Amino acid sequence: MSVPFIDLKRFEDGFLDAWIAKVTELSRETRFIGGDEVNQFEQNLAQDTGCRFALGCANGTDALQLALRGAGVGPGDVVLLPDFTFWATFEAIVNVGAQPVTVDISTTDLQMDFHLFQQAAEKHRPKAAMLVHLYGWGSADLRRMRTYCRENSILLIEDGAQAYGVTLDGVSIYKDADISTISFYPAKVFGAAGDAGAVVTSSEEYNRRIRSLLNHGRSDHYSYEHVGWNSRLDSLQAAYMNLVRPHIEKRLESRRTIARAYQNDFAGLESVRCVAPPEGYLENGYLNVILLESGEARGALQESLKAKGIGAGIVYPEPISIQQGAQSYIKDSIGGSVALDVGRRVLSLPLYAYMTLEEQQTVMQAVREVCR
Ligand SMILES: Cc1ncc(COP(=O)(O)O)c(C=O)c1O
Repeated sequence: MSVPFIDLKRFEDGFLDAWIAKVTELSRETRFIGGDEVNQFEQNLAQDTGCRFALGCANGTDALQLALRGAGVGPGDVVLLPDFTFWATFEAIVNVGAQPVTVDISTTDLQMDFHLFQQAAEKHRPKAAMLVHLYGWGSADLRRMRTYCRENSILLIEDGAQAYGVTLDGVSIYKDADISTISFYPAKVFGAAGDAGAVVTSSEEYNRRIRSLLNHGRSDHYSYEHVGWNSRLDSLQAAYMNLVRPHIEKRLESRRTIARAYQNDFAGLESVRCVAPPEGYLENGYLNVILLESGEARGALQESLKAKGIGAGIVYPEPISIQQGAQSYIKDSIGGSVALDVGRRVLSLPLYAYMTLEEQQTVMQAVREVCR
């Protein structure tokens, strides 16, 4: 039995019919920009994240740039970020004219290392820091980071692109952040039918500025208080996500069950570490994350899975700081080589909503054939 790395086609009964009916309705009425679907989506998102404001935008990368600019980060400002993240986190900092400083990650939760983060903050006195909630959970030191940033006047922007549905001690990971971003890229746990993103915050000031920036810096239809750009959330994307929302808890539960089953099943293996979220977190099951003993061991497992028709992915193969495109922008890189080492050994096994038990057992057995 072959098992794909990801399968987005497992829609709930009736879902596609509802979507086609919705596309027909919106098309007949040419309701393509803004309107009820976007308003409804934003209201629901604010409620679900526990934030006062949710601002839909074009994608998760724009959301990062909107958050940075909305918080007042601009040319010449120093911004810290983890060395292990999707490239968009770095890009956003560079695109607003700021200077990125990468910080190595912790071996335990694979998120930005708090002690190195403090060292970096003391050395560079940054205007802001970008914390990334990677893999479907967050840092064990999230609260300490938030407190440290508040006490040291560092703007903390949380890249929660991968974190929809994650809770810490029962509370949405977005709720107590000053400002966070979300991606609704189709492969995320809450995916749109194309590109979409959002910024969530409880700050009235950030909300006002970002609302304007994402719509050409408008203060009125032909009056402009900022130079922004067009990053409006597409109405069709909002409509699609409004149809997904009633199913989202079921999708999350399915993913979480699979994520936990991998963690339990691999707990007895010596040559595989299946990374679990730190205490207090309820993960969203975005990704399974295993660490092999070496790059060679990962290569052998990949080969064996491929031969059996089982998908696997590497998220991410290399740190940000060694990318060619980073070299002319990076101001400094703090820490050792944890990100480099993890990039060589990390692997993700198939995990998606409504993956069957049989599919999961096929994957587990295939791993056990190679790893002890
Ligand atoms: C950590 C992180 N930041 C930012 C993004 C960018 O989101 P988008 O693809 O919606 O632009 C992603 C999406 O892949 C991501 O995983």
